[in-house]
Amino acid sequence: MSLGHRVQRHPGTGYNKMERLFINIKELVGVQQESALKTGAAMDDLGGIKEAFLYVQEGKIAQYGPMAEMPENLREMAGNSLLQSGMVVDATGRFVMPAFCDSHTHLVYAGSREQEFTDKIKGLSYQEIARRGGGILNSAKLLSDTSEERLYSSAYQRAQEIMRQGTGAVEIKSGYGLNPADEIKMLKVIARLKEGTPLTIKSTFLGAHAFPAKYANDHNGYVEEIINEMIPMVAAEGLADYIDAFCEEGFFSVEDTDRIFNAGIKYGLRPKVHANQMGFSGGVQVGVKYGARSVDHLESTGPDEFKALKGSDTIATILPGATFFLNMQYAPARQLIDAGIPVAMASNYNPGSCPSGSLQFQMALACIAMKLTPAEALNACTINGAFAMDVDDILGGITVGKQANLILTKGIPSVDFIPYAFTTPFIEELYIGGKGML
Ligand code: NIG
Repeated sequence: MSLGHRVQRHPGTGYNKMERLFINIKELVGVQQESALKTGAAMDDLGGIKEAFLYVQEGKIAQYGPMAEMPENLREMAGNSLLQSGMVVDATGRFVMPAFCDSHTHLVYAGSREQEFTDKIKGLSYQEIARRGGGILNSAKLLSDTSEERLYSSAYQRAQEIMRQGTGAVEIKSGYGLNPADEIKMLKVIARLKEGTPLTIKSTFLGAHAFPAKYANDHNGYVEEIINEMIPMVAAEGLADYIDAFCEEGFFSVEDTDRIFNAGIKYGLRPKVHANQMGFSGGVQVGVKYGARSVDHLESTGPDEFKALKGSDTIATILPGATFFLNMQYAPARQLIDAGIPVAMASNYNPGSCPSGSLQFQMALACIAMKLTPAEALNACTINGAFAMDVDDILGGITVGKQANLILTKGIPSVDFIPYAFTTPFIEELYIGGKGML
């Protein structure tokens, strides 16, 4: 697949002029007249129109509906010889659905950690590896030794990889710098990816990912550095949309997280939080307290967490790839949905707990291990993912006026086939702003 030369162009330089007409779509999936977060029974609604058309004008969704109701001017367009030019796409036997919105990743990093993978197989836990200076600190050392240019180039490759897997929007965190200069280096790489790829990207400052060796015995000192040095620098350079913390025993306490969010909010950074991955950390509650956009992980979620989330403005984001990779107990996603709590799903692409950006695989895990239906899994990583990264006004669903970030599937029997045949490639083309990327 020759992706390279095509993804370098910025959305402003041509995507917005894009006009395209899809006809004979087996089923148009993810249709919403008004963009809305899905909860409860609505999660199981695919929003499908069978035998459909979709018209993209200036890179945005302009019209859609059943083929039988396609307007005359579009019929003429379809009748002309525009099929050859690719402007008209005959999608017979294939689905068109929104591209994935991956609302939690760490895809800027400097090196892989398969040695720790082997250590885990031999019995060490994620926390034991971290205590020995591995894990996030291992990634921080690698990142510190890597130039911004090399960091950009490897992250760019991963950005291309996730586009091939159907992702059109992604949130990316810092958190392998753990000192002012290296955190800024990571955030600058994320800023360059925003310019250098057609992906819609949101950036999160995660200085509170682990305590660097220098502060091993002075946690308060590092929290002070985050609050007094890093947050003001990051905000002054406009390098982040969100602030995050790994609120977990052995990492950042509820009190640390509280202070960091309190400081971040003053600079306009809305929190997201790594919460309740390893235990009942209080991360959910402190996230909800600060109006976090999302609380992510949630492997340890009980009645108190349900109570905190219910009726809040915070999305519960599940990351089943990390649960699988670390061989843990899955978050109670079925119960969260049944309780009417909005659930999003993301890849958590990172070198330590999920070295994969495949949302097809996440969908399979959500279905098999968490008992979500394929429709629920798809909604969790399209429209609800868009809400979890505040791009719901422009992405995540088939709604007039939204940017035409679309997946055209191969000839597959149903949407359920995507998580069912979880290693079978199902993507024929990814469109960003109506323009083919693959
Ligand atoms: O979301 N849990 C904290 N952060 C990542 C893992 C980071 C790493 O191990 O490098 C996560 O799972």
